[in-house]
Amino acid sequence: MSLKHSYAKALTAFIFLCAAGVYQLAISSKAVAVSLAPDNAEIVSAGAGLYQKHCASCHGAKLEGQPNWQTRLPNDRLPAPPHDKTGHTWHHNNALLFKITKLGTKALAGDDYETDMRGFSSELSDKEIIAVLSYIKSTWPAEIRQRHDQMNKRSTKK
Ligand code: HEC
Repeated sequence: MSLKHSYAKALTAFIFLCAAGVYQLAISSKAVAVSLAPDNAEIVSAGAGLYQKHCASCHGAKLEGQPNWQTRLPNDRLPAPPHDKTGHTWHHNNALLFKITKLGTKALAGDDYETDMRGFSSELSDKEIIAVLSYIKSTWPAEIRQRHDQMNKRSTKK
């Protein structure tokens, strides 16, 4: 094989690998950003454990939220709302739930916003955040899950 030939071959291989890399990245970031897996038993059970460890102290072991969660605390902050069907977690699409959990509500409402909901980016990987949210969704009744699916479809069509 001539030197020129093998150089061309290496270049082709390199271009191919780059394209594959970009493609992989596109797929994985999309999956991380939008898909929950409430029907995947393994992911849901991992998420349940993570929920008890990182979220239950405020949102409740049974996702019931803090008592009187709609009334502000004496320090003017909001209590933790429930994640079950009585709360408004299911009113938010996957992308927003992911963002709230990863970055906290300050990242959405601005630095001046006083809140106990901090971001979990230093304790939980993106995959773990997806697992916790998948667990939360797995506890909702079928009707609420369907409504949430439909909302996600609408919001990804934009
Ligand atoms: C230290 C208490 C605390 C912990 C721990 C906590 N949260 Fe929160 N969370 C809150 C509070 C308080 C709010 C409402 C805050 C606000 O709007 O400022 C909230 C709001 C949320 C919301 C928005 C809900 C809605 O109805 O708008 C989501 C989603 C959420 N938390 C997910 C999580 C997840 C997932 C975990 C565990 C990884 C977690 N939180 C851990 C206190 C906490």
